[in-house]
Amino acid sequence: MDFSIKAFNTKNAIAEQKTGCVVIGVFENNKLSAQAKLLDGKGLVSAALKSGDITGKAGSTLLLHPATGHAKRILLVGMGPEGSISDRNFISAAQAVARSLTNLGSADALLALPVNEVQGRDASWSIRTLILTLRESVYRADALKSKKEDVTNGVKRVALGVDGGLQAAARQSLAQSIAIANGLELTKTLGNLPPNICTPTYLANTAKQIAKDYKLGIEVLDRKQLEALKMGSFLSVTQGSEQPPKFIVLKHMGGKPKDAPVVLVGKGITFDTGGISLKPGSGMDEMKYDMCGAGSVLGTFRAIGEMQLKLNIIGVIPTCENMPSGRATRPGDIVTSMSGQTIEILNTDAEGRLILCDALTYVERFKPACVIDIATLTGACVTALGHHNTGLFTRHDNAHDELANELLAAGKYSTDTAWRMPVEEPYQEQLKSNFADIANIGGPPGGSITGACFLERFSRSYTWAHLDIAGTAWRGGAAKGATGRPVPLLTTFLINRASQ
Ligand code: BES
Ligand code: MN
Ligand code: ZN
Repeated sequence: MDFSIKAFNTKNAIAEQKTGCVVIGVFENNKLSAQAKLLDGKGLVSAALKSGDITGKAGSTLLLHPATGHAKRILLVGMGPEGSISDRNFISAAQAVARSLTNLGSADALLALPVNEVQGRDASWSIRTLILTLRESVYRADALKSKKEDVTNGVKRVALGVDGGLQAAARQSLAQSIAIANGLELTKTLGNLPPNICTPTYLANTAKQIAKDYKLGIEVLDRKQLEALKMGSFLSVTQGSEQPPKFIVLKHMGGKPKDAPVVLVGKGITFDTGGISLKPGSGMDEMKYDMCGAGSVLGTFRAIGEMQLKLNIIGVIPTCENMPSGRATRPGDIVTSMSGQTIEILNTDAEGRLILCDALTYVERFKPACVIDIATLTGACVTALGHHNTGLFTRHDNAHDELANELLAAGKYSTDTAWRMPVEEPYQEQLKSNFADIANIGGPPGGSITGACFLERFSRSYTWAHLDIAGTAWRGGAAKGATGRPVPLLTTFLINRASQ
């Protein structure tokens, strides 16, 4: 899909635009949007509303074929009640437009929706919502199907019509939105790839390609180098696998050379069998999504690379498989992490924290402004928050409250929301081990919190947040697939940081 901005002014009015389809909003109670009024020359739109064929309810649509005028089709889309449009209603309208456009006989369309009338949002938000929704509607995970799904006619070129005054903001928002859509799509594609293709080596090669495309710094450490760094915890997880582990470091230095970087750390378990603490067989294929944290870091780097964001950002991805074998780690094994802390591995299925803790120690060298780790860490997080909110965990002092609020706000703006959870001393006590400094599990109560508490012990030298995306990064069931979350949250957070 190709996107462009069309600025309207008195010389270049909406009714003068040649297009296969112009899309305009209408409201409940037969009310026309400003753009609809301008197109209502012979009363065509008002007549359609009066006919009762469209109610104006958010997401309702009606396609008209006017006999005269420059537009071959007019698509009316309901925006809900007039006055101020709720963000939910705007999203419903955007989804309805996307559905209609993919089935049209026209190759081009002009969207002239009331982008500036959404309650509490700016035009940039509306434009981003439109672009991400349209791109989502044409995404297909059929790379490995020998017969591709039917390609409908569908609109290929979309112009966004905005008032002249909004032109500059709209152009910037469009470029950002396309970059985010590209990043999101990469994250989805990586998540959806099967684990025999999307291996640690595949993720490393993907990172190398991104580095090449956007001129970023890259380093990929192999097993020998990880041994030299004494990453005993990470290495204990990879022991049972034939696939070599990789430790990826990507550097986007778009800020001033001396500015402290934001560091993103993504869990990259390309398949999680549970190891010797083997998972049940049913649904185990879904553990290919256990690299979605890593995928979201790569997707975010693709987006910020394309945007040339003026901020220093470092991405770190520990990646390996968690497999059972004669060489695999046993429950009861005690390993020494890079930080020096010893860990009693009571359950080899709590492996995410074991690879992340060494990465959290490694990133101390960057003297980060903050570190955010992203991981499909616990089933318990899905139980706590379902599939709607990512779990957000930080310590509870001023600096961390500030970081947490920034992340929550970025989630709200991008409808990629997170919910804050506690990280407190009583939960830490569940991680006591009789034989080592710390155990890798804290028992069933508060499982997502004890997972976060484990990571907390390795992140004490900087400001840190942990995002548990086990419930939000992918969908199960009939609509099985990666969602691309939390790329919208992360890119929004970084865009906001860059403009501070
Ligand atoms: N990758 C899983 C977490 C997970 C579970 C993600 C379900 C998505 C859906 C993680 O490595 C894991 O197995 N966690 C264990 C931790 C437990 C052993 C303390 C879990 O959640 O059961
Ligand atoms: Mn596991
Ligand atoms: Zn896992």
